[in-house]
Amino acid sequence: MKRPLLIAPSILSADFDRLGEAVALVEAAGADVIHVDVMDGHFVPNLTIGPPVVKALKRVATVPLDVHLMIDNADDTVGWYLDAGADIVVVHIEACNHVHRIVQTIHEAGAQAGVALNPGTPVSALEGIIADVDLILVMSVNPGFGGQAFIPTTVAKIEEVVRLATAKGASPRIAVDGGIDVRTAPLVAAAGADMLIAGSAVFCAEDPSAALGAIRTAAVTTLV
Ligand code: DX5
Ligand code: ZN
Repeated sequence: MKRPLLIAPSILSADFDRLGEAVALVEAAGADVIHVDVMDGHFVPNLTIGPPVVKALKRVATVPLDVHLMIDNADDTVGWYLDAGADIVVVHIEACNHVHRIVQTIHEAGAQAGVALNPGTPVSALEGIIADVDLILVMSVNPGFGGQAFIPTTVAKIEEVVRLATAKGASPRIAVDGGIDVRTAPLVAAAGADMLIAGSAVFCAEDPSAALGAIRTAAVTTLV
């Protein structure tokens, strides 16, 4: 059975002096999940937010928080984000020493576990973990910044993730992150993505609510 498509605005492109307002705005526009980008200045060349901000967001958000850890040594610090209230924690397969152990830790805390894949990482890297996770996040840009151009080979990569999941008898959600807008949303949804993460296309739009709705409509229309 097909699951409903989820739209997850990334607050990376929101005004950091008004994060609470940004969350309220996109929730009112129908956001299903709030995507929170944690960057450490090592795994990616940018530094954003940490557990205290996740904790603050948890106080205001009424939909689940999806915390995307673009950090080295998530093995050591994943607990911080679970304690801060993350509902979904996504770690990069390229940055974990023991990805199974992290997934176990996330599940033991009652949260959902996701594994993310950089554009340069092959889908085969997921073979040993795909059956154990709730979500696979396919990066459609190199992580680190909002507003980058969608990498077109992502579409085939999503299809490959779907094939691998089927072969393993698994059915994780498939999220796609980077360069998602009204033009790319239908492409990734048709390929099998069922969680679309969009930052600049929502928060840099003149009317973020309308932009979020337009992305959903564009994606859902392609599935009918
Ligand atoms: C990029 C982040 C994304 C980012 C996407 O490294 O993981 O979540 O916010 O931004 P857009 O939608 O502008 O590409
Ligand atoms: Zn992200």
